[in-house]
Amino acid sequence: MRDHGSVLDDVRRGMTPAYIYNDREIFELEKERLFSRAWMFVGHESEVPEPGDYVVRRVLEDSFILARGNDGQVRAMFNMCLHRGMQVCRAEMGNATHFRCPYHGWSYRNDGRIIGLPFHQEAYGGEEGFRRKGQALLPAPAIDIYNGLIFVSLDPDAPPLTEYLGDFTFYLDYYTKQSASGLELRGPQRWRVKSNWKIGVENFAGDMYHTPQTHTSVVEIGLFREPKAEKRKDGCTYWAGRGGGTTYKLPPGTLEERLRYVGYPDEMIERMKTMWSKEQLSLIGDNGFMISAASAFPNLSFVHNWPKVEDSEDVLPFISIRQWQPISEDETEVLSWFAVDKEAPEEFKALSYKAYLMCFGSSGMFEQDDVENWVSLTTTAAGSMARRLLLNNRMGLLSDNRPVVPALTDNEFSGPGVARIGYGEYNQRFLLADWADHLERPAATQPPVEVGTPDSPRGATTGEDDELAEASR
Ligand code: FES
Ligand SMILES: [Fe+2]
Repeated sequence: MRDHGSVLDDVRRGMTPAYIYNDREIFELEKERLFSRAWMFVGHESEVPEPGDYVVRRVLEDSFILARGNDGQVRAMFNMCLHRGMQVCRAEMGNATHFRCPYHGWSYRNDGRIIGLPFHQEAYGGEEGFRRKGQALLPAPAIDIYNGLIFVSLDPDAPPLTEYLGDFTFYLDYYTKQSASGLELRGPQRWRVKSNWKIGVENFAGDMYHTPQTHTSVVEIGLFREPKAEKRKDGCTYWAGRGGGTTYKLPPGTLEERLRYVGYPDEMIERMKTMWSKEQLSLIGDNGFMISAASAFPNLSFVHNWPKVEDSEDVLPFISIRQWQPISEDETEVLSWFAVDKEAPEEFKALSYKAYLMCFGSSGMFEQDDVENWVSLTTTAAGSMARRLLLNNRMGLLSDNRPVVPALTDNEFSGPGVARIGYGEYNQRFLLADWADHLERPAATQPPVEVGTPDSPRGATTGEDDELAEASR
């Protein structure tokens, strides 16, 4: 493998080697050192509301069954049969008390424990040959939940999720905690693009600069009050903890007027006022910023926008959550969910969904514009000339590293982290610096887990196994 040390140094000074957007070795390194230990979003609690509800989600090549057990707990179980390794669950979602492997019929409870093993006595000589008690589908090494967002880490020593996310949770709340009931999701829509996964993450984190150019036509047809070039540069970008995003500057007004300006009805505004902290409310009400797109390291993004949905000047906001699931160095599977506050009025939910579909998702107008660029960039990054090119990722910095504009003060921006008005590539640099830090550190190898022997550990879910005998004949 080549020495990528100089690449990481270049990235840290804001000079990005173009080939990192399409390189097999870099992707292998990302798998080994980044995706092996970061927290990755896999789904939302509202997708599995009832005992037995499950969805199947991937973390790169690893498939996990995300299921709510009969005890109400949500678990992520590696979707590989303990016998010969068949995928136990082949459906994408459903409700089940048990999962039966299609190959030889071993079955598992929805908490992962083996419950049925055909001919256990005849084939294995019973427990003596294959220790079944306490055996369970391999649990995800770590699982944690924030405001209903479920994350998995492949690193058993991952820090707690809130510690990992850090101050970015302040901003996550705007998307995910508009009432005590939290979000409900629709989707995900899934599709693949021939683009490197980092490009979308960077774009959503801080690329306010592309909006006036890439999305000109969408603005020109009059569907959007935002974004317009002059409005984008009046907003600020912020970075806090493990994530950052963009904002729009709102016209003068009170908190209520500003939330109404982006289309929230009064009853939702009243609930937001009870859910968000003084500082969270102040960011909108006093400072006049409204959060828009954002990304959390490594591959989760959010959208908040407010297009016109009907034949009037009225706008309506929507929220979308998306994951950039890497397939290879030049392909990404996009998972895109529509999200809305559970307590929102039904009419609002319907219009908000419409707003989402117009802008994002496989048919969204912004989506189409964006992807065209990213595919083209990825393709070009594979060539030999790209290996010589260091892209300037230093927007917002002078040559001696002084910022072009000062950071906003606490009075101007009540949120945590660093925020700056106007165009800059601060957030892209924050992301890539974190990326470089991960790629630099070798990952610990995890010990193998043995199945069915006296040495094999009990599964994460243990308990009485009385049902075993009758279920396995
Ligand atoms: S592989 Fe699953 S039962 Fe054999
Ligand atoms: Fe875009």
